[in-house]
Amino acid sequence: MKLVFNNVDKNYGVISALKNINFTVEPGEFVFIVGPSGAGKSTLLKLILNQIKPSNGEIMVDNINLTLGTKQEIDNIRRKIGVIFQDYQLIMDKSIEENIALSLDIVSFPKEKISAKIDEVINQVNLNNRRFLFPSQLSGGELQRAALARALAIEPEIILADEPTGNLDNENSWNLVKLLSNINKNNHATIIMTTHNQEIVNSLDKRQIEIKDGEITHDSNSHQKKAKKDIHSKKHEQ
Ligand SMILES: Nc1ncnc2c1ncn2[C@@H]1O[C@H](COP(=O)(O)OP(=O)(O)OP(=O)(O)O)[C@@H](O)[C@H]1O
Ligand SMILES: [Mg+2]
Repeated sequence: MKLVFNNVDKNYGVISALKNINFTVEPGEFVFIVGPSGAGKSTLLKLILNQIKPSNGEIMVDNINLTLGTKQEIDNIRRKIGVIFQDYQLIMDKSIEENIALSLDIVSFPKEKISAKIDEVINQVNLNNRRFLFPSQLSGGELQRAALARALAIEPEIILADEPTGNLDNENSWNLVKLLSNINKNNHATIIMTTHNQEIVNSLDKRQIEIKDGEITHDSNSHQKKAKKDIHSKKHEQ
């Protein structure tokens, strides 16, 4: 699903959280959203999730305008977006596999396929021997992988990750980002991840959108496109 922000502003009362945001994310891209605390990163993800509405401008997901689309259109889009957060947001009195089953229920996943889907995603995040445990029995790294398994189960076309490594140590942070990177490659899911972890961002050759005070101050996409074009034209010259 293609994602387009067109001149988007978001105000919370007198607070201007996002100002004139313009960018496009093509299906299958991996994008880091970086910027200081309070810059507007989470606000941007909430807009994509349709939890809040833009004050001005338009957000298009899969060519549907999130402000103008019908309830059914918006629900259909929402079902194709998986999300993970810094604090995991798992349900504490349900086991890991029950957490996953619940989110499959919510999107009306075919009942007869639920069990196989849980096997698949638990396996994908390497939590096979933890599936019957409750969140309080898992480590931080395991909890985030469980949250990722839950997000993956609905077969999302877009995964939004809001500071997913915020509570993880270095090793677990890398582990999670590698998983996301593999999912991006193998499942062709778009990944949009906010992060303060500059080391991870700098080590990976992914698109970066930097936000400061509600404005995009840098989008590495324009450079990448130009670089690819240059390489392409050089090949032709040879
Ligand atoms: N519900 C709200 N009501 C009023 N102001 C809000 C609300 N949510 C966010 N804001 C303000 O909007 C601005 C952007 O907040 P946001 O949570 O998007 O920042 P962020 O970049 O995600 O920060 P962090 O890196 O700390 O998570 C902040 O100034 C914040 O105080
Ligand atoms: Mg935030």
